[in-house]
Amino acid sequence: MKLWGGRFNTEPDKLAEKFTASISFDSRLAKFDCIGSIAHVKMLGKQSIIPLKDASRIVKALQFILAKIEAGKFKIDPSCEDIHTNIEKEVIKLAGQAGKKMHTARSRNDQIALDEKLYLKEEIKIIIKKLEESVENLKKFSNKNKDMVIPGFTHLQHAQPVKFTEYIGAYIEMLKRDISRFKDTFKRLNYMPLGACALAGTSFPIDRNFVSRALGFTMPTKNTLDSVSDRDHVIEFVSACAILSIHLSRFAEEMILWSTKEFAYIEISDAFTTGSSIMPQKKNPDIFELIRGRTGRIYGGLVGLLTLMKGLPLAYNSDMQEDKIHLFSVADSILDSLDIFSEVVSHIKLNNACIKKSMFKDYTEAVEIANYLTKKGLNFKDAHTIAGKLVLYCLKMDKDFSELTIADFKKYSDKFTENVFDVLKVKYAGNLR
Ligand code: ARG
Repeated sequence: MKLWGGRFNTEPDKLAEKFTASISFDSRLAKFDCIGSIAHVKMLGKQSIIPLKDASRIVKALQFILAKIEAGKFKIDPSCEDIHTNIEKEVIKLAGQAGKKMHTARSRNDQIALDEKLYLKEEIKIIIKKLEESVENLKKFSNKNKDMVIPGFTHLQHAQPVKFTEYIGAYIEMLKRDISRFKDTFKRLNYMPLGACALAGTSFPIDRNFVSRALGFTMPTKNTLDSVSDRDHVIEFVSACAILSIHLSRFAEEMILWSTKEFAYIEISDAFTTGSSIMPQKKNPDIFELIRGRTGRIYGGLVGLLTLMKGLPLAYNSDMQEDKIHLFSVADSILDSLDIFSEVVSHIKLNNACIKKSMFKDYTEAVEIANYLTKKGLNFKDAHTIAGKLVLYCLKMDKDFSELTIADFKKYSDKFTENVFDVLKVKYAGNLR
């Protein structure tokens, strides 16, 4: 079945038909297509654009189809061009001639824009829930190790000691920003495009506010051309996913590093690691590697979408059909990554002894020694130089600061007194906060 056969003398070429069809990927919008159509048809009936009894027949058919979709029992017809055609065909089967009135005062251009928005609204809610769960799990991971101090790094070199809770807190902040980014995207996309029709609206007396309210939108969109050709929300959603994937990937990278023999800061439980087919000793952090690797797909989707939209003249163009390939691939990838991320953090054990060992002779208290001298009246520049010289002395003697005597300290400044050893303890108590 075609939605547009009348004007054509010949049947479409099979290859052309296959090339232009989108049913293989837009079929996953089936549920949203029904939900949108139910609101649309109720409005058509209410406005007497179609007889009320026809409207109720169509709605009944759509509800029947929707229930089948939700039960996983709806069979997609691959011979249909797209999901809109497929649902309409089913409606006509169930509601007879009345079914042919469903597409009054509508085009597939505004219909697909609506379907995508309904899909995104649901997807964003799922992602936000997952993100909130991930934040909770990170908090648990952090609290479980709340007394730990680890080296903070800059340039991947030991810099200053930090509390583990502060370290993980950085990732919690990132994920909270992600949550707010998805909420923003939701707010901006929550305008109802149906009624724009192909691009210029319709001469039927439609009630867009009714449809908008019925579907939980803030209000209808303002401009008809923009309504059918805007994909900002898809790009925004995918951008938010891309930024989130940076955060997950950075965390993954840390865990991969920390699980190496060189760091040995963490142990990932066996159930969340994999072995090697040749090297019996191997225990690989595949999950984190794959979370890191997924960013490739996600950035690919973003670049695909940006490229797709660049230079498209108003209004709808078929190029836009391709947006779903990127959108679904990104949404699926990010949800997969989030699912496993949320779980795996509770399967990481800190190796306290190795962390402590790595901090011995790392001189991360040097800043505190310089601050100590500054508080005793030296300018920071000179204090910095003295602390630096002490580091050099320690390196030469192969000693930790804590192994120096007060006499050693005094060789570099007479400002040092016994209480310098209190400053050194800071290293194992975390940063000063
Ligand atoms: N399948 C299209 C899409 O996914 C919707 C239909 C657009 N309209 C058209 N005349 N081809 O964007």
